[in-house]
Amino acid sequence: MRDGEEAGPAPEGSGGGTGSGPRGASGGAGEPAEVDRALLERIRAAPVLAGRLPHFDPERAPTAPGPLLAGWLDTALADGLPEPHVMTLSTAAPDGTPSARVLMLRGVDSADCAVVFAGDARSGKGRDLAANPVAAATFYWPAHGRQIRLAGTVAVLDAEAAWRDFLGRSPGSRAAAFTGTVSAPLGSPEEYARERLAAEALVSAEPDRVPEWHTVYRLRAREAEFFQADPARGHQRLRYTREARESPGNGGWARTLLWP
Ligand SMILES: Cc1cc2nc3c(=O)[nH]c(=O)nc-3n(C[C@H](O)[C@H](O)[C@H](O)COP(=O)(O)O)c2cc1C
Repeated sequence: MRDGEEAGPAPEGSGGGTGSGPRGASGGAGEPAEVDRALLERIRAAPVLAGRLPHFDPERAPTAPGPLLAGWLDTALADGLPEPHVMTLSTAAPDGTPSARVLMLRGVDSADCAVVFAGDARSGKGRDLAANPVAAATFYWPAHGRQIRLAGTVAVLDAEAAWRDFLGRSPGSRAAAFTGTVSAPLGSPEEYARERLAAEALVSAEPDRVPEWHTVYRLRAREAEFFQADPARGHQRLRYTREARESPGNGGWARTLLWP
């Protein structure tokens, strides 16, 4: 132990795995550090697309992507996959800087291939979307080897949708929305504890209060891509692109197979 270091549990991220070798030694020019090399070996040994995966026949896919989106979600739910309703939402700042985070899916409009999510208008995504109302949503269900990518325009739903979404939440979730300012720098854990207590008191005194920054968004896909992985790497990819006008038999969408 060096002077001034306290004995105790290793800080998070200091590496607690087994067989990971010496820590912290840096490699030469272009050589990964020991710790990175050990991590890389363990990453390479981690299985991917290992189990039995469902079959997907793009030739038999529906003419529009909404029902396929709902169907894959439904299968993920029915099979009890962990957190099947968590997706990654990617946005871009006006200067093009991308940013992505995971969010909870709050609704699906399968007739129009749109997904609904909620968040704080003051957050990074809120600011990006106010300036640049386009986004991508990505779902991944590892046990099924399935990925769905949606990209399109984002609209803000009305205040009633925000109230309904917010008031349907647990008191703890509602208090979280009144605690400080999401994604702004936090001074200290004590500051958080103080704000959280005040927010809990507010929620119990005014259970119907909805913060004006709580926002429900709707991403309407312009493009939707379905990826069905295959353990032998003969993956299937099907992209739907929304057409300006609906023509007979295509449901308003063009379908394209993509090289995996
Ligand atoms: C499992 C999980 C679910 C989340 N769900 C939401 C959500 O529905 N809405 C939300 O605004 N943030 C949610 N978050 C937090 C976001 O990932 C993110 O930290 C937050 O939205 C602020 O990011 P931003 O400043 O980039 O917008 C969730 C995080 C996790 C880990």
